[in-house]
Amino acid sequence: MTHFDRAFLGEHREMEQRLREVGLHVSRGEWDLAAATVERQKAHLAHHIDVEERLVYPAFEAQADGEGLRTLAFLRKRHLELPVFFDELSDALAERDSELAQETLETLLRIIADHHQSEEKDVFPCFEPTASLAAVGLQAAHALEDGR
Ligand SMILES: [Fe+2]
Ligand SMILES: [Fe+2]
Repeated sequence: MTHFDRAFLGEHREMEQRLREVGLHVSRGEWDLAAATVERQKAHLAHHIDVEERLVYPAFEAQADGEGLRTLAFLRKRHLELPVFFDELSDALAERDSELAQETLETLLRIIADHHQSEEKDVFPCFEPTASLAAVGLQAAHALEDGR
């Protein structure tokens, strides 16, 4: 696995895994654990989005075709929406509303898995070691790891 993949795909898989654990915590009534996990992942997400918006997306944008630009616009929209879903999840946990928490979590997991899939299929291949944006990819991987 390349350095870029280890950093970015590593965080994607970890995020999905931790969110599934939140569902388990809720089903067991472990509200504090669920809330703490959501807070931690919310911070990870903010940093992950920051690095993508500062380094990955602008480099991709500079060389994207029309379809690439449309994909990017959709991905950026998701970056605005995802933190809102996290806040809604936090609210549901604070109210100990397990039905609402599981519903919100299910939506969040679906959206985030779709977002990750699109980044990994349409954007990230340009940042692999033999691709045109390899140098930016390495810089982004370092930036991602530095902020953890
Ligand atoms: Fe993203
Ligand atoms: Fe990402």
